[in-house]
This record gives sequence, C-alpha cells and structure tokens, in this order.
Amino acid sequence: MNITVIGASSGIGKEILQYFVSYKDYKLWASYNKVPIVSSNEGQATYFHYDVLQENNPLEELSIQTLDALIYCPGTVLLKPFEKISLQEFKTNLEVDVLGFIKTLQHFLPSLKKSKSASVVVFSSVAAKIGMPYHASVSIAKAGLDALIRTLAAEYAPKIRFNSIALSLIQTPLTQHLVNTESKVQAISQRHPLKRIGNPSDVVPLVKYLISEESSWITGQNFVIDGGITAIK
Ligand SMILES: NC(=O)c1ccc[n+]([C@@H]2O[C@H](COP(=O)([O-])OP(=O)(O)OC[C@H]3O[C@@H](n4cnc5c(N)ncnc54)[C@H](OP(=O)(O)O)[C@@H]3O)[C@@H](O)[C@H]2O)c1
Repeated sequence: MNITVIGASSGIGKEILQYFVSYKDYKLWASYNKVPIVSSNEGQATYFHYDVLQENNPLEELSIQTLDALIYCPGTVLLKPFEKISLQEFKTNLEVDVLGFIKTLQHFLPSLKKSKSASVVVFSSVAAKIGMPYHASVSIAKAGLDALIRTLAAEYAPKIRFNSIALSLIQTPLTQHLVNTESKVQAISQRHPLKRIGNPSDVVPLVKYLISEESSWITGQNFVIDGGITAIK
C-alpha cells in the first residue's frame, strides 16, 4: 500500500508516520516543512520538504505512480478574540488548511485514481461543529474543509473515499502553548467529559481504519475524537 503523509514531522502526522513506517506492507512518502524528519527506517520511506504556502511545487519531483492513501496534516489552531485576528491571519489559516489541501490533492489525484481503493483523510476541529469563543479563524477554515470533503466524496465516489476527523485538544507542538502549565492541563482536562486531553496515539487507529479496506463503505464523513466534549454536557 502506498501512503503519502503531508506534515509528518510533528504531532499527529509524526505519530501516523511512526506507526506505518514500522510495517513492511506500506510504502511511505512523508513531508516536513520547518523541522526535518529524523527516522531510523529510511529504507521504507521517502522524506521531502514541502511548504504549502510556497509557489514552487516539490511534489512534481516525487515519482508516485499509484497512491492508495493521502493524509493531510498541516493546519492551524489560532485562538484569539475575533477583533484581534488580522485579515492576513484569516487568509494564512485558509491557505494552510484549505487551499494547501486543494493544491496537494490536485497534484495527487491522477495517482489516487490509479488505486483500486483510494482514501483521503484530513483533520478538522470541534470548533467547526460547535460555537467556541476565540475560534473564529479555525472554525471557518475547518468548516470549509469539512464541506469540501463531503463535496469531493460525492464527486469522486466510488473511486476515491474522503473523510475528515474533527479533534478537540490533542497535545502536540501546535497546542503546546495551551497546556504548558499543570493548571492549564487540569482546566482543559476537566472541560472534557473523559477528563483528560488527547494524545496523537488517540488519533492513529481511526486513520489506520479509514485508509484500510475495512472502511471501504465509508465516505464523506466527519468523525469526532474529542473526549466527549461536543456530545455530552
Ligand atoms: N492538536 C490539536 O489539538 C488539534 C485540534 C484540532 C485540529 N487539529 C488539526 O490536526 C492537524 C494536525 O495538527 P498537529 O497538532 O499534529 O499539528 P503540528 O504538530 O503543528 O504538525 C503539523 C504538521 O504540518 C506541517 N506543516 C505546518 N505548516 C505547513 C505548511 N505551511 N506547509 C507544509 N506543511 C506544514 C508541520 O511541519 P513542520 O513541523 O516541519 O513545520 C507538521 O509536520 C492540523 O490540521 C490541525 O489543525 C489539531
């Protein structure tokens, strides 16, 4: 199985890469932006630099004939009062979360179409499902991404499946500033019915399922991994 992970140098993407790279069944292409990937299993994976905000397209240098799974991890969690978010910040978030995904997918579509069973997975946020203060930018970017995923699922069925995973707080470098003291960890843990914050390892099993044959009758869905915060009062 051929898998491309965009944004595999940190957080959830890194955990996904570490899981798949340990199995010989998977051939991986994994990107980084600012932080080069360090791995002892280089033989099974190709690592490349890719910044979705840049005009140049290093994806053209990859020779991937058939792609079975594309997992897109770049994203933002900009939490600020609405009136303090600049137009440029809104634009950058949309560029990383939505336009970056569009650019990446358009590149890989010919290779995905060659697969007998292709699957695309992106990451959304609970802020696209419920109103949360200070989440204006992330909410519109992720709601746009979720809508796009449903549209693409319709447009490319039955050939390519598309699903998104909406997350509440997962401890990664992206969210480190939100959980950098014990009191912040406690406060955020208490807000979640399951009384802890999430880890990248909470996310990997669903990704594994969504790119496998076991989920071959599932497309256009928005799954939620959130410690119960959106469903339970
Ligand atoms: N963590 C959470 O609590 C949470 C909550 C809701 C949604 N999400 C979503 O889940 C996804 C993964 O989040 P995470 O916490 O794992 O984030 P992370 O630790 O910041 O990792 C993001 C990955 O994307 C890469 N990346 C960032 N900007 C990029 C760009 N302009 N071009 C190409 N690659 C870029 C990063 O590369 P470098 O590190 O090399 O720069 C890194 O590999 C994101 O879409 C995020 O919005 C996360």
